[in-house]
Amino acid sequence: MGIHQKVVVIGGTGLIGSKAVAILREDGHEVIVASLGNGIDAFTGEGLEEAISGADAVIDVSNMMSFDGPVIRNFFDTTSRNLTTVEKASGVRHHVVLSIVGTDGLVANPYMSGKQAQEAAVKASGQNYTIVRATQFHEFLETLATSYTVDDTVRVPAIDFQPIAADDVAAALVSIALGEPQNRTIQVAGPERAPFEVLMGQYLKAHGDQRVVVSDASLGYFGAAVNKTSLVPDGEALSGAITLTEWLGRQSRAKIEESV
Ligand SMILES: NC(=O)c1ccc[n+]([C@@H]2O[C@H](COP(=O)([O-])OP(=O)(O)OC[C@H]3O[C@@H](n4cnc5c(N)ncnc54)[C@H](OP(=O)(O)O)[C@@H]3O)[C@@H](O)[C@H]2O)c1
Repeated sequence: MGIHQKVVVIGGTGLIGSKAVAILREDGHEVIVASLGNGIDAFTGEGLEEAISGADAVIDVSNMMSFDGPVIRNFFDTTSRNLTTVEKASGVRHHVVLSIVGTDGLVANPYMSGKQAQEAAVKASGQNYTIVRATQFHEFLETLATSYTVDDTVRVPAIDFQPIAADDVAAALVSIALGEPQNRTIQVAGPERAPFEVLMGQYLKAHGDQRVVVSDASLGYFGAAVNKTSLVPDGEALSGAITLTEWLGRQSRAKIEESV
C-alpha cells in the first residue's frame, strides 16, 4: 500500500460507499463509515466535526432519491456546503464527490439538477476537490427497466449507454481520493458503449425476463430531453474493466453459490 491515510466515506453504508470502505480497509487505511444510521448527518451537520477531524480525504457518496427539484437541490447543496466547511476548518486535504456523466445537459431532470447543485457547491467552496462523474451503474439497470416498462414492454430512449460496475466506480473513487486534489471534473465509464436497448435487452435476457425492449426516440431521461450522447462521456474518461457480460456472469455465479 501507499502512505496510510484516514478517509471518511459519507454514505459509507450505501452501494458505492460500502465497496469503497472495503477497498480502503483492504489497503490498510483508516476508514470512518459515515451514514445516517451511524449518527452522522451531512444535511443537518450532526456528528460531522468529530467524524472528519484529522481526515486526509472525504469521499461523498451520500444519496437521496427524490424527483422533487427543490428538495433534492437543497439536499445536495446543503450536504456539500456542510461537508466542505467542516473539511476546510479541519484541514482536510481532498474532497471527492460522485456525480453523473451528462449532468449539466440534463437539468430538466430534477435529480440531475440536484447533482448540478452539488457540483456547483463543491466548486464554490474553496476546498480542494475532485468531482468524479460516472455513467449509470450495471446495478441500476433493474430500476431503469422498471421505470421504462409500460404493459410488459420496456421502452427506452434512443441513446447510447455505457454502464459501469459499482466495483469499478468504487475503485476509481478510492484511487482518486488517495491522490492529490485535481480541482476539476473527471469522467469514468464502463468498458463498452452500445445502444441502450441492446444493453437493456441483454440484461433482461440474462434474467429470463420475457419483456420486449423497444427503442423510442420520443422518450427522454426522467423529464429531460436527450440526444444520442447525453449519457455517455464527452471526451476523455477513465474506463472500468467489468463489462455487462462479465458482471451478469458474476451475479449468476453468486446466486448459484448462495443456493448451495
Ligand atoms: N445509480 C447510478 O447509476 C449512479 C450513476 C452515477 C452516480 N451516481 C451517484 O452515486 C452516489 C451514490 O449512490 P449509491 O447508489 O451508492 O447510494 P445508496 O446506496 O442509496 O446509499 C446512500 C448512502 O447515503 C447515506 N446518506 C443518506 N443521507 C445521508 C445524510 N444526510 N448524511 C449522511 N449520509 C447519508 C445513506 O446512509 P443510511 O444507509 O444510513 O441511510 C447511504 O449510506 C449518488 O450520489 C448518485 O447520485 C449514481
